Amino acid sequence: MSENPPVDAKGQTYNLVLVPGDGIGPEVIAAGRRVLDAAGHIFGFGIDWTEILVGGVAIDAYGTGVRDEDLDKMAASDAVYFGAIGDPRFSDPKAKVRPEQALLRIRKDLALYANLRPVTVQPILAASSPVRESLVKDVDLMIVRELTGGLYFGKPSETRVTPNGREVVDTLFYTEHEIRRVVKLGFELARGRRKKLTSVDKANVLESSRLWRTVVEEVKPEYPDVELEHRLVDACAMSLVTKPAQFDVMVMENLFGDILSDEASVLAGSLGMLPSASLGERRTSHGLFGLYEPIHGSAPDIAGMDIANPLATILSGAMLMRWSLGRTDVAEAIEAAVTVALDAGYRTPDLVAAVGEEPGTKKVGTQAMGDAVVAALSHERVAAEGGERAGTLTGGRR
Ligand code: IPM
Ligand code: MG
Repeated sequence: MSENPPVDAKGQTYNLVLVPGDGIGPEVIAAGRRVLDAAGHIFGFGIDWTEILVGGVAIDAYGTGVRDEDLDKMAASDAVYFGAIGDPRFSDPKAKVRPEQALLRIRKDLALYANLRPVTVQPILAASSPVRESLVKDVDLMIVRELTGGLYFGKPSETRVTPNGREVVDTLFYTEHEIRRVVKLGFELARGRRKKLTSVDKANVLESSRLWRTVVEEVKPEYPDVELEHRLVDACAMSLVTKPAQFDVMVMENLFGDILSDEASVLAGSLGMLPSASLGERRTSHGLFGLYEPIHGSAPDIAGMDIANPLATILSGAMLMRWSLGRTDVAEAIEAAVTVALDAGYRTPDLVAAVGEEPGTKKVGTQAMGDAVVAALSHERVAAEGGERAGTLTGGRR
């Protein structure tokens, strides 16, 4: 099962499932895997990888987006490292099998109820954000998106043909238990950060949002140290671009979180920068079981060209180390290595497109960006062992 046996028999070995997926998924996940394997060599742990097909590639190979036996492999692992899925060949609204269904099934079957989407802005990229630098430079927020309920899973969800024409229904359904567990996680995360929680809803219109708000108020007394605010999703979408630095942790239902997290990614300068963790309740021997993926999709238009930004995937690998393996040391080293690579001037095309080619920067492809992070990781470790601070790679800017 392992293509890459443990590197250090004395050290820890982690069991990870690798899902390259569709489009740019295999490219970004290859870069991400190399970073995690390099981290294993440096920190002395092994990774036993089990690679599976999910998405359009699985529909082609097996006729289904994800097989039951592959769900079992994921469920038995310490964590899942996921590229991206989605393929325009299946985007016909009448298509019976779509790659996205596989992702939704994985989230639901593995009970990954909370999706953490941290949004930070790398100082050196602050000028590349379409939002003014002064507004984005202090952004450090965390979107906590409920992931296994709401409109994505409510039944009925169907089109009906009636004598008066077609009609359609989707259902926004939540139990109070589903709301409470994700809201509590939001409070917990806020407690460990700047102690501010924004609960996002549409309580002026939706019954589901009114229960959401009620449950948030019921949980609040358990967290007297956390400042709570309720915001309506429409106004909140506006504040996310006009005053993004005011937010700390934001908790919301599934569809609101899908929309606001793509919006928030603009702050970071590129969708290619944002990682995510989808966490369940199950504990493994090292931490919480979870699935880690960039928030971007499979970008079929640029697949196979080695131009996709792998940093969101690499940063998702850092989240995997932190949440599922309890390796904060490794997570921080990977995050620092990403900053070093950017500060040294390495830019994938999406980052160059944002500001144009600046002096001191070097346009690189997906794998070269992965290499830059691997090099920074090794360099940092050497520097740390030598008692010095890590410098830049090539004497680039800052
Ligand atoms: C995301 C994606 C997915 C979602 C799609 C691919 C089903 O947009 O993870 O945000 O809507 O949840
Ligand atoms: Mg989305």
